Amino acid sequence: MEDENIQLGPDQGDIVAEAQQEAEQASSSRALYETKMKFLGRTGKITALLKGMREIAAENRPAFGKKVNALREKLEELFAAHEARMKEKELKSKLAREQIDVTMPGRKAKKGGLHPITRTRQELIDIFAGMGFEVFEGPEIESEYYNFTALNTPADHPARDMQDTFYITEGFLLRTQTSAGQIRLMEQKKPPIKMLSPGRVFRSDDDATHSPMFHQMEGLVVDKGITLCDLQGMLDEFARTMFSSLSKTRLRPSYFPFTEPSVEVDVSCAACGGKGCPLCKGTGWIEVLGAGMVNRRVLENCGVDPDVYTGFAFGMGIERIAMLKYGIGHIRSFTENDVRFLEQFKD
Ligand code: DAH
Repeated sequence: MEDENIQLGPDQGDIVAEAQQEAEQASSSRALYETKMKFLGRTGKITALLKGMREIAAENRPAFGKKVNALREKLEELFAAHEARMKEKELKSKLAREQIDVTMPGRKAKKGGLHPITRTRQELIDIFAGMGFEVFEGPEIESEYYNFTALNTPADHPARDMQDTFYITEGFLLRTQTSAGQIRLMEQKKPPIKMLSPGRVFRSDDDATHSPMFHQMEGLVVDKGITLCDLQGMLDEFARTMFSSLSKTRLRPSYFPFTEPSVEVDVSCAACGGKGCPLCKGTGWIEVLGAGMVNRRVLENCGVDPDVYTGFAFGMGIERIAMLKYGIGHIRSFTENDVRFLEQFKD
């Protein structure tokens, strides 16, 4: 009972009411914390009261201390309640702010596709691998010997002018044709040979259908008794798989130094079925590759006896095949990296 008479100080009576009022006004956890510190912190009102204990008569101190403790407990309870309320309020507003619409369609991760040249190259490899061809890749920097001389195109041969060559140093160049791979393979491997050699080639040439760098696919078959009929049969199979089941091929006489006889191969136009249309310029045929029977001299240059073995070779531009197959008008589309163009080749 005695305790009731112990006053905490003239204006301490409504500390609780004051704390209650300020806590109610606090608009955030941070503000509430600051208010709490004003009462319960190291420099707060409770600490101030305890410091004032010195001025109180010794016999009253225990009772005073008890009162201050009771007050502290009350305040702690009061702030705990406000903190809980504040937490809940803030959580609610956070949830409202961060509300997500789970029915909204997601953003799909964009998937890339193979470049049309890579695709076409792969399709060609698949077709010829099915006929037993193996892939052999030669170097892009070649010697004049492999690119020209061994292919029966000596230094003064006019056929060297057919291909505008990028020379690197005396005797070395960027290969102008994958035909160089024929020589490299025949030097390494004895017949029977069934080789496919895809790769980049380079020529100083630039217009709607020519580019200084493009891709070729070379084919070479060497064995006993190989004839031009084998070449045509294989090309028919290639055209039917690559373009249309109704495709036909036609051979026209031509000239390449490394083949004798040489032919240019046309495929019936898949766009009009051979009737004639703007794509085939009304002829019904489209030229797709060069080919021929491997020239005896080329076989001899590689140590293959031309009286025992014969062979055929062919070479095609991968860009040209892709342009025909997909109806692409300009060769530059392949290297411009326009996503709108490339996106059309996704699976
Ligand atoms: N190398 C020739 C060129 O780039 C294409 C070619 C024609 C390759 C006839 C051959 C072939 O293997 O037999 O124009």
